[in-house]
Amino acid sequence: SKGASSHRVTPGLSRKSRRHSVTCEAKKVALLGAGGGIGQPLSLLLKMNKLVTELSLYDIAGVAGVGADISHCNTPVKVSSFNGPEELEGALQGAELIIIPAGVPRKPGMTRDDLFNVNAGIVKALVEAASKHCPEAVIQLVTNPVNSTVPIAAEVMKKAGTHNPAKIMGVSTLDVVRANTFVAEAKKLDVKDVDVPVVGGHAGATILPLLSQATPPVSFTDAEKKMMTEKIQNAGTVVVEAKAGKGSATLSMAYAAARMAESTLMGLSGEPNIYECSYVQSDVVPDCPFFASKVLLGPNGVAKVLPLGNMDAFEQACFDAMLPELKASIQKGIDFANA
Ligand code: NAD
Ligand code: LMR
Repeated sequence: SKGASSHRVTPGLSRKSRRHSVTCEAKKVALLGAGGGIGQPLSLLLKMNKLVTELSLYDIAGVAGVGADISHCNTPVKVSSFNGPEELEGALQGAELIIIPAGVPRKPGMTRDDLFNVNAGIVKALVEAASKHCPEAVIQLVTNPVNSTVPIAAEVMKKAGTHNPAKIMGVSTLDVVRANTFVAEAKKLDVKDVDVPVVGGHAGATILPLLSQATPPVSFTDAEKKMMTEKIQNAGTVVVEAKAGKGSATLSMAYAAARMAESTLMGLSGEPNIYECSYVQSDVVPDCPFFASKVLLGPNGVAKVLPLGNMDAFEQACFDAMLPELKASIQKGIDFANA
């Protein structure tokens, strides 16, 4: 069997799995929203991924150009483009992994929840199509507000009778990517050695980095802990402000989604011990039906949702304070899907 590391074209995508070796089967991936700010660089990263055999690019605008462009890269991935709702079925046919970054991004002054009115309907329609044309696929939602779009996807699948909670994941990987970067910088560590679990949700205070569970162990004063937590929580807004009206994180997001996709494909291929933090249906927190935490990825998607582990007093206080916001965002998604 081949070493897992031989599959990697992008250093550091999912560091942990390098220790294992497996012969990975190749997979078909559909990317919905492929023409956008995230979709374009994510298309490229997927075109460079040796675990992918086929890549279907779908959007309602501009996707033919992206497809023609990346199809010239001399990697074996077969790329096809699909434009508009009448071609959506073709994009989904046979897909084992569907990644959805379709929808509008924030502008300065907006919260992620301000995107709900536009993006909820986009996600609902795309997941309805996925449920119809490839109900067995793993669906990964990038579209904000993730805290609500994942519950929408789950409700859509429930209504269609195709719900499998192991196959719906909210992509919160960017929070982990940021936490790893910032902690490595602050503690002068080699970033490839750093792993910080980030749990909760993917918006403002619901983003809860567990610095007390970082690998390698790091120590912060109370003031530093607060500053680092807020830096991770506000990182998306920093990018939105720096882009000054031209959208939100796209390149780091594509990197994060590519890492999540690669880990998921390795899990689907039978690679053991692949862990990522993801926002999923969960019973780790009572009365909170969706929560981000570390999950084990396996041949059917999420194989296991791991418990939160010990939180220090600061993390516990942050957790208690944000829970009502997270629950409200979940309920908002559920209500929308059932309206
Ligand atoms: P963008 O506007 O650059 O691209 C979005 C793309 O979606 C466009 O190409 C658009 O044509 C397409 N689209 C719109 N409606 C569609 C539909 N019905 N079907 C298919 N495609 C459709 O935006 P972006 O910067 O790529 O961001 C996309 C989403 O990702 C936003 O909601 C943003 O908030 C979110 N996001 C999430 C994270 C995260 O960590 N989960 C990080 C960054 C951005
Ligand atoms: C991010 O965290 O960068 C994304 O959720 C986009 C945003 O609106 O901040």
